[in-house]
Amino acid sequence: MKKDNLKITIAGGGSTYTPGIIQAILNNIDKLPIGEIHLYDIDEKRNNDMFLIIDYMLKRENLTDITLKATLDPEEAFTESDFVFSQIRVGGMKMREKDEKIPLKYGLVGQETCGLGGFAYGLRSISGLLEVVGHVQTFAPHAWILNYTNPETIISEAIRRVYPKVRMLNACDMTISIEETIAFNYGYNRKNWISEYYGLNHFGWYTKIYDKSLERDVMPEIIEKLTTENMKVADFNAGDKSWQAAFNMMSVITKNFPTNIPNNYLEYYLYPDMVVEETDKEYTRANMVMEGREKNTREMAEKIRQGKTEDVLNFNFGEHGQYIVDMASSILNDEHQRFMLIVPNNGAIPNLRSDAVVEVPAYVGATGAEPISLRENICDFHKGLMEAQVAAEKLLVDAYFENSYQKALQAFTLNQTVPSARFAKLVLDEMIEANKGYWPELK
Ligand code: G6P
Ligand code: MN
Repeated sequence: MKKDNLKITIAGGGSTYTPGIIQAILNNIDKLPIGEIHLYDIDEKRNNDMFLIIDYMLKRENLTDITLKATLDPEEAFTESDFVFSQIRVGGMKMREKDEKIPLKYGLVGQETCGLGGFAYGLRSISGLLEVVGHVQTFAPHAWILNYTNPETIISEAIRRVYPKVRMLNACDMTISIEETIAFNYGYNRKNWISEYYGLNHFGWYTKIYDKSLERDVMPEIIEKLTTENMKVADFNAGDKSWQAAFNMMSVITKNFPTNIPNNYLEYYLYPDMVVEETDKEYTRANMVMEGREKNTREMAEKIRQGKTEDVLNFNFGEHGQYIVDMASSILNDEHQRFMLIVPNNGAIPNLRSDAVVEVPAYVGATGAEPISLRENICDFHKGLMEAQVAAEKLLVDAYFENSYQKALQAFTLNQTVPSARFAKLVLDEMIEANKGYWPELK
């Protein structure tokens, strides 16, 4: 692998997360010496807006020797790329809004990655990411794909069925967001932590948080704190009511099940009724993001277009960008840093089916991910929840490849947020209409 003058391609270049990733690259240019950044998107306007913002960032830091391109052409975008960071969202925020609002109409959880919204998104996302991975195989077969595209377990399962040997790491920033929020609230430094965690994506539990400087497992004391007082959102989520609600629910889960620190996304599976009661069915998270982050990004681009040079940049996504950059650096420099990654189980969780796609700690070096094995069996409560979810996700991926309405209905019915096959069918049928042109035909 090339060690300098790297070419990085961002698939979904127009995403509002791109500035955060670029900032992290620029902060780590010694470990990730790049020569070219290519923004690839199918939305020309968003990609061009992002070009202006990134160009502004490079000039501001006097990094004008880095080539920057925005393109809709996959050949140009991917040829001889060294790293592809993927963060595409098939159908954009408009379809996210439908993923959230359609299940809510039937009193079910409406969420982008969990529940039936997540399944609808999964059936759209698979084809988009298969296309990106296909381009990479054609134009840059040695490139590493670092993927943030959701819903991650479903995506991973589908991609590996077609490209079992793909050079790809699937990661989610939720565990570091949780850790940062815990550290921010209770005065720890998460950089000192070695975390043990297992689950599926957006569906898991911590079993231990060893703090190297304190030389002890701090999970029991964190559980104690979580059960007595809710956490506040950290700086990077300041003022965000829905993240505050999510972290409040983490305390509810921990109070009732105090053996582990849960991933906050378990609220959708354990307390779907509570979540639905508290959700505004007319104005969901997609609306907040469209009127927040998306609008804000367009405004940044507009200021640059008008020649403004002061107070232009306005973003803060915590460690999201840093995390993916650390992964790239760990591959490039064979650093063996530890990350939470989404990988085929293959015995990592000994008593869970080996063909499940799980999220566990993994060390990352020049050959990719080396997941750790838990060595111990997981409890029946977590195992039962995970097995149902794994089966549902596998059925969904089967439905995609086999064009099977029946498998899709089984997947929707088995989803833990769904109380009745009647609702599964009603939502599925409405989703089929809403996703025309995005979903495979289901027969
Ligand atoms: C976390 C999750 C992502 C998810 C994002 C949604 O970062 O790990 O998978 O996409 O939250 O955030 P948003 O602000 O778009 O609701
Ligand atoms: Mn995630």
